[in-house]
Amino acid sequence: MDKSSSKIDQEQIEFLENAQKRIRQKKLLYYHFIIFLFFSSFLFVLNFLLKIGNELIFLKYSWSVWIFLVWCFLILFHAFDVYVTNRFLGKKWQKKQTRLLMELQINKILELKKEHYSEAEVISKSETFYSKSNLITIIAAADENNVIGKENKLIWHLSDDLKHFKNLTKDHHVIMGRKTFESMPKALPNRTNIVITRNSDYVADNITVVSSLNEALEKSKNDKQPFIIGGGEIYKLAMQIADRIELTRVHHEFDGDTYFPQIDPEKWIEVKRDQRKKDLKHNYDFTFIRYDKKQ
Ligand SMILES: NC(=O)c1ccc[n+]([C@@H]2O[C@H](COP(=O)([O-])OP(=O)(O)OC[C@H]3O[C@@H](n4cnc5c(N)ncnc54)[C@H](OP(=O)(O)O)[C@@H]3O)[C@@H](O)[C@H]2O)c1
Repeated sequence: MDKSSSKIDQEQIEFLENAQKRIRQKKLLYYHFIIFLFFSSFLFVLNFLLKIGNELIFLKYSWSVWIFLVWCFLILFHAFDVYVTNRFLGKKWQKKQTRLLMELQINKILELKKEHYSEAEVISKSETFYSKSNLITIIAAADENNVIGKENKLIWHLSDDLKHFKNLTKDHHVIMGRKTFESMPKALPNRTNIVITRNSDYVADNITVVSSLNEALEKSKNDKQPFIIGGGEIYKLAMQIADRIELTRVHHEFDGDTYFPQIDPEKWIEVKRDQRKKDLKHNYDFTFIRYDKKQ
């Protein structure tokens, strides 16, 4: 028998047990009510017809009336127990509450783990700064299918994403492939532009030309956070050596020809997320996500 069928069987057994329990409770209440009717009538006959204990009067009422009233209250209490307490606060309710509490606890533990991991990461990253001297960061924007460009152009325009890119990379080294460089009108201002190409004769204004990613990183070794800004070929090379990914996930599916590599959850952990809704300036929902490489 597989796990799912044994789970269904277990659920059916519990359901059946619960139904039987409810029937027992209702039957008991019914018998209680019948006994109550029978004995109350009997007591009234003794008291009022046969005049037994006629002199026993408390607060204007005869003893049989008092027994009747107290019993009425007990019957009501019993009915409340069956139809309200057991129905709404029964085993099922207790189970649900326990499950809710457990879910809360699990979420809390996950939060704590995440915080703990981030703190450990920050500490280990700051230690790494001394040995490795910098935090190599990939920065990219990709759609739901990891598309990043088409015919050597960006596909979307999201002004807040541009601002995000500018704020993060300002005054840093930006490392890119020759094709990405040529997709831009000119070198990015206020940044040290490093362009990777196999063409040793390649020249352009305001850029440093290198022949490999390693050479690019060597040139940016004094920068605490050099950025690898694309495109697809260079991202692929950089995934092995990068420490962080600043990804803008654009929540849409585009037609494209260049892709961002898959982010392996075994190697990367999401440490920050900032969601943005589409508005007059932005045609799509998008999310800034930071991933740090697991140690
Ligand atoms: N959405 C985003 O965040 C984002 C960011 C950047 C770019 N993009 C898009 O990505 C596309 C461009 O990406 P791409 O993959 O086509 O090109 P790319 O990665 O920008 O550049 C590829 C070029 O880099 C050089 N190169 C690659 N590997 C090399 C190596 N191992 N050693 C030396 N040189 C090497 C080669 O230049 P040579 O041919 O000169 O030798 C190669 O043609 C465009 O559509 C662009 O708009 C998107």
